[in-house]
Amino acid sequence: MTTPHLILTDFPHARPRRLRRDDFTRRLVREHQLTVDDLIYPVFIVDGTGIEQPVPSMPGVCRYSLDKLLPVAEECVKLGIPVMALFPVIDPSLKALDGIEATNPEGLVPTAVRALKSNFPELGVLTDVALDPYTSHGQDGVIDEDGYVINDITLEILVKQAVVQAQAGVDIVAPSDMMDGRIGAIRQALEANQHIHTRIMAYSAKFASAFYGPFRDAVGSASNLGKSNKMTYQMDPGNIDEALREVGADLKEGADMVMVKPGMPYLDVLRRVKDAFRVPTFAYQVSGEYAMLKAAAANGWLDHNKVMMESLLGFKRAGADGILTYFAPAAARLLRHA
Ligand code: PBG
Repeated sequence: MTTPHLILTDFPHARPRRLRRDDFTRRLVREHQLTVDDLIYPVFIVDGTGIEQPVPSMPGVCRYSLDKLLPVAEECVKLGIPVMALFPVIDPSLKALDGIEATNPEGLVPTAVRALKSNFPELGVLTDVALDPYTSHGQDGVIDEDGYVINDITLEILVKQAVVQAQAGVDIVAPSDMMDGRIGAIRQALEANQHIHTRIMAYSAKFASAFYGPFRDAVGSASNLGKSNKMTYQMDPGNIDEALREVGADLKEGADMVMVKPGMPYLDVLRRVKDAFRVPTFAYQVSGEYAMLKAAAANGWLDHNKVMMESLLGFKRAGADGILTYFAPAAARLLRHA
C-alpha cells in the first residue's frame, strides 16, 4: 500500500517546492492559521487606583488597578480578542493559611469582573480558581502541619470561590489547582446555584513546571512559597497517560473545555489530548515561555514578532483551539495589519 507521504519522494514528478515558491501558493496551501479568535489575554490586577506597575521578569506586562484595566479591556474589544483572564495580586495583609479572601464577594476579582462585564459585556472574562494568590504559604490549597495540601478541605473553599466568581458574572471559571474532584464539585455547586451558563475551562493537565517562575513573581506568591514546590498536586513532567486520565475525568465531571499547561514544552501532550477527546482544547503559553522569548528578542538574538507568531501557530498545529498568551494584544495587532 502506498501512503500519501511516499508520493512526495517521487522526484522529479513531484517537486514539493512548487507549492513553496510564491507567497500566494504558500498562503493557499497553508494547513493551519492563527486568528485573533484564538487568543485569551491573561492580565494581573491589583487593588488601588492609578497603578500600572511593570513586572520585571515579563517585559511588556503590568499589574493594573481597575481604572487602568478598563482601557486594556477596551483595547481587547477593539482588537477582537475574545477573552481576558484575570489574575489577582493580593495585598499581603489579606493572605491567610486558608486563603479565605478568595471567597470574598467584595474582593478584588469579583469587583473586577463586575466592572468589566458592566463596561464591556461583549468581552469574555475568565477567572482562575485556586488559592495560591490568597494563601500566606503560596500553595494552591489548605496545608496540614507537614505542608501537604489537604484535598477535600481545599475543595470546599474552591467551590465557594467559583460560586462567588459566577455570582459576580464571570463567563468562564478556570480551576487551576489540580485538586482531585474539583471539577465535579464546582459544577454541582454552580448548577445548584442556578449558574447553568457558567463555563468551566479545566486546567486538566497542569504540570509541576519551573516555567511558572515569572508568574509567581507577578502575583507575589514566589516569596510565600519559598523553597517548597507543588509536586504533590501538579503533574510530573514525564507523564502523558496520566494527562489523558486527568482530561477524561474532568470532562466526565462537567468541564466544557480543557487545558494543557505549560505550552511549548508540552505540545505532544496537547496533540494527544486533542486526538483522544476531540473537545475544545486550550494551551497556556506560560510566563516563563514569554520571558524566554522576550529576553532573547531583547538581546537581538531572535526576531520578536516572528518567534511570537511562529510559537502561537505551533499551538494551532498541535491541536489547540485557543491559546492563553501574554502576547495576545501584540499578536492581535499584527494579525489586524497582516
Ligand atoms: C495558579 C496559577 C499559576 C499559573 C496560572 N495559575 C501558577 C502556579 O501554578 O504556580 C501560571 C501561569 C504562568 O506561569 O503564566 N494556580
